[in-house]
Amino acid sequence: MTPPDAFTDLANRMSAAQSTAALIEGRRTIHDFLPHAVPQELLSRAIDVARWAPNHYLSEPWHFYILGPQTAQAIADLNADLVTAARGADAGASKRARWRAIPGWLAVTCDRSEDATRQQEDYAACCCAIQNLSLYLWQAGVGVKWTTGAVTRSPEFYDLIWVDPARESIVGLIWYGYPAEIPRTARKALDQIVIALP
Ligand SMILES: Cc1cc2nc3c(=O)[nH]c(=O)nc-3n(C[C@H](O)[C@H](O)[C@H](O)COP(=O)(O)O)c2cc1C
Repeated sequence: MTPPDAFTDLANRMSAAQSTAALIEGRRTIHDFLPHAVPQELLSRAIDVARWAPNHYLSEPWHFYILGPQTAQAIADLNADLVTAARGADAGASKRARWRAIPGWLAVTCDRSEDATRQQEDYAACCCAIQNLSLYLWQAGVGVKWTTGAVTRSPEFYDLIWVDPARESIVGLIWYGYPAEIPRTARKALDQIVIALP
């Protein structure tokens, strides 16, 4: 990759990069999915791409747990129990029905480290990997919702996905499927977040 040497070269390169910008800007978190299953081959390739995320010391701290229907339903039930305890039976039943209808389930975990800096950097790398996965799937017409609800921090959740919480931490429960609806969202103006120093 060589730096642009003239204004027209820069314009051409920015134009070439526009499809990447459109993909990044167009991706949305999907809350409602169609019932159709996503082909396993597509998910496998998304994970394959995800692991090309930057990761300090090439620690490759991520693990991708593809959750089958039995595990997904057990998680939906566990979550319904938590919601029932907090907000009552009706709320729990409604959540159970909603979660049971989600077509694709993936859990992403990160290796734990005794070193706080390493832990933070490894978590950051896992987040980059999830974004890679999301963008790849989005380009293929598949939406994702990254969730970190209370259920994902419960010991029972770790049990259900066969993860030892002393060795790995949950970065996200990732739902995926074909979008039933694509929501709108917004970002702050650039001048609210960009600070240029001399
Ligand atoms: C670490 C992380 C955790 C998230 N957890 C949740 C969640 O528990 N529930 C939820 O509705 N969305 C969750 N999201 C998705 C955000 O709500 C979403 O990214 C945000 O609203 C911006 O929308 P967009 O992704 O369409 O740009 C999470 C996102 C990240 C990065």
